[in-house]
Formats: sequence, C-alpha cells, structure tokens
Amino acid sequence: MSMPSIRKNIFVIKNSKGKQKIAALTAYTSSVARIVDRYVDFILVGDSLGMALYGFSDTLSVTLDMMIAHGSAVVRSSKSACIIIDMPFGSYQESESQAFMNSAKVLANTGAQAIKLEGGSEMAKTVSFLTKRGIPVMGHVGLMPQQFNTAGGFKALKSEEYIFKKILDDALSLEDAGAFAIVLECVAESIGERISSKLSIPVIGIGASPSCDGQILVINDILGMQKDFSPKFVKQYICMEDHIAKAVEQYVSEVRESAFPGKEHCFFS
Ligand code: KIV
Repeated sequence: MSMPSIRKNIFVIKNSKGKQKIAALTAYTSSVARIVDRYVDFILVGDSLGMALYGFSDTLSVTLDMMIAHGSAVVRSSKSACIIIDMPFGSYQESESQAFMNSAKVLANTGAQAIKLEGGSEMAKTVSFLTKRGIPVMGHVGLMPQQFNTAGGFKALKSEEYIFKKILDDALSLEDAGAFAIVLECVAESIGERISSKLSIPVIGIGASPSCDGQILVINDILGMQKDFSPKFVKQYICMEDHIAKAVEQYVSEVRESAFPGKEHCFFS
C-alpha cells in the first residue's frame, strides 16, 4: 500500500536553507500544477498570470478573484508542493487590516499554505501583523513588478553599494517581521550573493544569483510558450510555441482533408 504523500509546508522551505537548494516554479492551472507538483518544493500562483494567461502587459489589473480562482485550481491539482499565492496590486498596501482580510480570504478560499507580497521595509509592519495572526508570508524585494510605474519600468538593479544597502535593509526588515522566505528579483549577481549570505531565511532568486538558496521562474517562460519572449535570466527548456503550432497545423489540415477523425475515433454501437 502506498503512503499518501504529505504536502510540504513553510517549515520545510525555511529549513532547507544551507541544506538543499529550493526549486520552485509558477503554475496557474490545474493541468500544469498536476505535473509541476511532482518535482518542485513550492508552486507560486504568481500574479504573473495576468501576463501569462490573460494577455495584460503588466500585473496591475490582476484581481483577488483571479488569484483565488487559479489558486484553488492549483491546490486541488497538487498534493506535494507547498502552494503560495501572490497578493495582487491594491489588495494589501492600504492598511494592515486590508492585508489581513484579503490574505485570510485567499488562504480560506484556496487551501494554500502562504501568501506572497511585494515590498521592503515599508511593508514590514504589515508582514508582522499578518504573521502574528496566522498568515505565513513570503516577501518579494529587488525588482517589484507591481511598482513598475514608480520605478520607471522593469529594470535589473545594478551592482551599486547604495542599492545593496537598501535591498539588505528591506530584506532584513521582512525577516525580522516574520517572513519565512523572500523572493529576490532581477538584481546584479553580487547583490544576490551578498543578500543570500546575510539572511537566515531562504532567498529565492529570479534573475538574482546562483548563490541564492533557491530559484524560481515563470512556467510559461521555461516552456517557451512565447518563444520571442526570453529575458536574460530565463532558460527556455523547450519551445512549446513551436510544438503547439505544429500540432494545431496538423490537426487543421487533417480535418480539411477528412483524415481526422479516423475509424478508431468513431462509435459503432
Ligand atoms: O508573479 C510571479 O510570478 C512572481 C515570480 C516571478 C517570482 O512574482
């Protein structure tokens, strides 16, 4: 008799620091989560779904209802990975109570283990409020896509001492506030390496450094769902755009030539 698999929780992620690299991916749908779940330590239902699934040019239009719908699909279709859900823009920045109400709604309606929110020292009081009230929080510093209007676009952060100090201050305030891990996005490699070594919680890099405690990428990017979109920090492991185009092209031509369906696809009784 096979034992039921036990879902990883935030303590498994936290305790991996210094022992084993943490491998993570985003997933937004049931079909993808079912596969990714077999391999990764955690799945992030990222607000990148706004771009990956809904065709938005940024993440700002993503709603709490979208995150709940996709988050619960991912939870239902996975059994091993820890599931973390991004809080969308405008759902947590206003006040500690707004952040609590919406985070609690996300966890209660999806069954996920934790939420992620963007922001550094300015969010520390909110993170402390949440973690003291039963909401596990993953932080997100460095490039913060929800702030691209104030940051002047999506740009990797350069290897300057003042940038390092600011990110370190942000990351340490999140750690002190009770975050169990942080995502560090698009920074110079030396910054990624130094931040990871200064924190006692795991630092999950995306365009950061191989020295980070773990790595995360957007699933659509590693699968090459849009082959001409491949930022420097992404590795395309397969070009699904070509595979899908080829299959669709073949299907359409078989339908037009009456080669599909064949007898084996028909019911005879
Ligand atoms: O929204 C997202 O997918 C993310 C990851 C890229 C870290 O925040």
